[in-house]
Amino acid sequence: MKMDVNILGIETSCDETAAAVVCNGTEVLSNIISSQIELHQKYGGVVPEIASRAHIEKIYPIIEQAIEQSGLDSSGVDAIAVANQPGLTVALIVGITAAKTLALVWQKPLIAINHIHAHLQSAMMGTKDLQLPTVALVVSGGHTSLYECKNILELQLLGSTIDDAAGEAFDKVASILNLPYPGGPSIEKAARGGNPAAIDFPRTMLAKDSLDFSFSGIKTAVLYYCHGQDMKGENHTDKMSRKEIASIAASFQAAVVDVLVKKTEMAADKVGAKTILLGGGVAANTILRNELEKMAQQTDRKLLVAPKRYCTDNAVMVASLAYYKYKAGLFADMTLEAKAASDD
Ligand code: KG4
Ligand code: ZN
Repeated sequence: MKMDVNILGIETSCDETAAAVVCNGTEVLSNIISSQIELHQKYGGVVPEIASRAHIEKIYPIIEQAIEQSGLDSSGVDAIAVANQPGLTVALIVGITAAKTLALVWQKPLIAINHIHAHLQSAMMGTKDLQLPTVALVVSGGHTSLYECKNILELQLLGSTIDDAAGEAFDKVASILNLPYPGGPSIEKAARGGNPAAIDFPRTMLAKDSLDFSFSGIKTAVLYYCHGQDMKGENHTDKMSRKEIASIAASFQAAVVDVLVKKTEMAADKVGAKTILLGGGVAANTILRNELEKMAQQTDRKLLVAPKRYCTDNAVMVASLAYYKYKAGLFADMTLEAKAASDD
């Protein structure tokens, strides 16, 4: 008889305190997220110390709610999984400490999860026949990377950003345009009705075959556009009409999406990919989803995208990926540490 495997996932890598229980990698029994957006909003970005303190306050109530909502008790949980990299170390450490404590007290195995791999798991969840080889694009606030996904647990990095992540560019451009944090959803909303061809913002492709990204140039281009080339002028956004803001936002969004889609196609060509995976916070962006879908259809590939609710940080993706590590016997021990950068 097949036994169910219920895993408690914990996620505290940035500004969401999250816990979830997932059965057999696919059946979501609970999903609790406490967002800190309001705490960071006035700073226009995540302040690590504030994030850490908020995680400490929230982590146990959130875990308790996740267990309660799942209908299980601690004896029904088979393992504790936690994102231990990459992210803000002062934030990651809160989730890791909670996970270690529960693993010790409940006598359950501990599983370490790479947050980026987990973002891709959100796109793969529930897919029965993943056609290999597969190319995966992760676009979040901290990362913009292309991988060859050899199987659920094996990713090989093909390229990543050499400066800003795509989400970071959305957040910074939103701040230039006086739009609220987080910038991605604000820009997407502001761009509605704007002309995406109004301003020809740069599409940085780097060297001919490069699969790396660079988004600092476009951020500066938007800054110059709003302040004037000499940067001596004031930020004119206050005096701009909604339509003008909409066109800047739409043109910026179109340029970023263009680069992401072109590089993903290059990566897919390089590895002969039949499937493309898309995950991470920026994957919630409708224009990006639509343009990647168009490219996939034109090149006879299948696009798998995380449902919007699982694009931004959550613990379902952590608990889901952990199932495959559990099956493979890949457990962590009490020496598990937080790592700011990803191992791969
Ligand atoms: O994956 P995530 O929740 O956290 C990190 O791992 O970084 O991603 C957050 C990022 C933020 O930069 C946010 O502005 C961006 O994802 N984002 C979006 C959208 N929703 C969130 N970017 C573009 N369009 C969106 N709809
Ligand atoms: Zn993330």
